[in-house]
Amino acid sequence: MGFQVPLRSNLTAIKAYVPGKPIEELERELGVKNATKIASNENPLGPSPKVLEMLKTQLSNISRYPDGSAHGLTQALAKHLGVNASQIMIGNGSNELLVLLSQMVLNPGDEVMFADQSFVVYPLSTQLFEGVAKVVPLKDFTHDMAAFSNALTPKTKLVFICNPNNPTGTFVPLLAIEAFLKICPPNVLVVLDEAYYEYVEEKTYLGSLKLIQDYPNLVVLRTFSKVYGLAGLRVGYGIGHPDLVSVFQKTRQPFNINALALSAAQTALSDSDHLRKVLELNKAMRQKISEGLTRLGLKPVPSQGNFVYFKVPQAQDLYQQLLLKGVIVRPMGPDALRVTTGTVEETEKFLTAFGQVYSNSGAKS
Ligand SMILES: Cc1ncc(COP(=O)(O)O)c(C=O)c1O
Repeated sequence: MGFQVPLRSNLTAIKAYVPGKPIEELERELGVKNATKIASNENPLGPSPKVLEMLKTQLSNISRYPDGSAHGLTQALAKHLGVNASQIMIGNGSNELLVLLSQMVLNPGDEVMFADQSFVVYPLSTQLFEGVAKVVPLKDFTHDMAAFSNALTPKTKLVFICNPNNPTGTFVPLLAIEAFLKICPPNVLVVLDEAYYEYVEEKTYLGSLKLIQDYPNLVVLRTFSKVYGLAGLRVGYGIGHPDLVSVFQKTRQPFNINALALSAAQTALSDSDHLRKVLELNKAMRQKISEGLTRLGLKPVPSQGNFVYFKVPQAQDLYQQLLLKGVIVRPMGPDALRVTTGTVEETEKFLTAFGQVYSNSGAKS
């Protein structure tokens, strides 16, 4: 007898999230050894060595529940960011925060606005809570904030802005975000997803936390998964109005962040030398990838993140060819690829492999 319990009807339309292909899977399926994964915007240098040392000392404590209030990390973040601890919410990755924030505000039929090419969790959590997606096309691979303003309706409840945008790497200047917030009614929750904030160099982008005071309907999300190299431990955080944060405390699970993750995140925050190394490598590799692709006649989109997006015909085929050469990138539909910055060796391996498969393919006209 199979499973016969009727499920909530909205679940039938949801397609499960497909993550970047794990290295082990590639090795299992195609027998490829020493594969390089530059598909999921992870940090090629990993976490700070101080984090790894500290984790060893914490292992013997894992029989204890973690600090359910995440006191140490919350205080450290408040100090680091110059905000009040009552404004901080901590999630099991910023992914959990995206879902919980949706759950907190959405009633069936509420409209949720996000860009057509952006982080896949926005449509997923919209569907999960029976919202109605209002998809706004990117303009020149970039969020079009004027179009966001025009798409607001009395039914809009939640807006996701991904800045810099995943997968295109483009950014919206702070002035454009503020212009949108001025128009957006205060009963609409605006989530500014800044998973790649630390990589940004454009000065016109920086400083979103300043907006929180004037716009209590704004939440800024950041993560320890990218620049801090802790994707496997799952810690993200949000900064918003204390009223929203106190409701969040009711909706999350009591121990949503595990003990190792809490200590790791706090230690990672204090190692600014490691952060500097990560940012320097990222900048150099982002440039190397862009220059390499440009030499092949392609037009990589200028990126502020730790990845480069480019349009290329037959992207699925090129992705498969790269897999055979032990390089995992992320296909983005039929005509685009996204490549994460790697170490120097990983980046060079990608450029060499891509140069070969691209030249041999019909994609190069
Ligand atoms: C734009 C964006 N938001 C959120 C996330 C989720 O990150 P986390 O690992 O903190 O859940 C990602 C991860 O790739 C992302 O690209």
